[in-house]
Amino acid sequence: MERELALEFARVTEAAALAASQWVGKGDKEAADGAAVAAMRVMFDTVHVEGTVVIGEGEMDEAPMLYIGEKVGAGGPPVVDIAVDPLEGTSIVSKGLNGAIAVLAIAPRGTLLHAPDMYMDKIAAGTAAKGRIHLEASTKENIKEVAKALNKSVREVTAVILDRPRHQKIIEEARRAGARIMLISDGDVSPGVATAFEDSGVDLMIGIGGAPEGVITAAALKCMGGDFQARLCPEDEAEIERCKKMGIDDINKIFSIDELVRSDDVIFSATGITDSHLLKGVRYYNKKTATTQTLVMRSTSGTVRIIEAAHNLDKKPLFKDKRINWLINAE
Ligand code: FBP
Repeated sequence: MERELALEFARVTEAAALAASQWVGKGDKEAADGAAVAAMRVMFDTVHVEGTVVIGEGEMDEAPMLYIGEKVGAGGPPVVDIAVDPLEGTSIVSKGLNGAIAVLAIAPRGTLLHAPDMYMDKIAAGTAAKGRIHLEASTKENIKEVAKALNKSVREVTAVILDRPRHQKIIEEARRAGARIMLISDGDVSPGVATAFEDSGVDLMIGIGGAPEGVITAAALKCMGGDFQARLCPEDEAEIERCKKMGIDDINKIFSIDELVRSDDVIFSATGITDSHLLKGVRYYNKKTATTQTLVMRSTSGTVRIIEAAHNLDKKPLFKDKRINWLINAE
């Protein structure tokens, strides 16, 4: 994929973040998500790719836009798979908490795992710990390995875990091991990606969260040379059937990062909506300016860019677009 595309996709996540940011703390997660989705959808039309959404807002009959299988982009080549999460952390935005981002990943057609919308057991760590983390190992073992890889003591390792009753055992184990734990209410993509940034304060992300979010996290870590493993967690027969329909016959399979993202040509972009381990959220100034911070990376070059942008909202076509105008006006 051409390197210019990285900037184009950064503009796509910026648009989604700006739209969702209007809904921070307003208690309406559907509206926040709707605004992010609509903005992302409009911006895709300006990008020269032939894209198919493989991870999106749900099936065609349950999502009006960015549904799985939807064709997006102004036309290719390149022909690409697109994984999107226009608002990762809907509850976070509705409550005005930290950790929400707008995020997407792109890779050549047929190379991203078409993960069904169900739970996934995941473990993520940065470059230094590559090859040292294993989903089958105990939490204590993984923490010990990450500590060794980072040349830290176990007490200096910070693990992020979603605060859910299902994680009681791993939380207890991590505490017994002596690691520092950060329990988060939502949004495991941002800390998962943050493991690859030495100064993020996050060394390890473990636990069960969404499978689509898992593939997106894997795409980011692929760009950074980090590590990620995952196993789907279907909860009933219907979910097992869905796995099979998506070509996953062995539901106990542990996927490596290279099986989740089967290409070395990946573009990842994430823009902060609210502040997180990874990015600053959207800020507003003087009635017409908003700033965004975006992380954009290409695995082929390994370049990691943080783009700080100041948007003149009076001039932004997005805010005048009739298709989404009502969605981003959160008065
Ligand atoms: P949404 O943005 O769809 O609300 O998802 C947020 C999230 O916290 C993900 O980051 C995480 O993987 C998943 O939900 C966890 O699911 P659950 O809330 O059911 O435990």
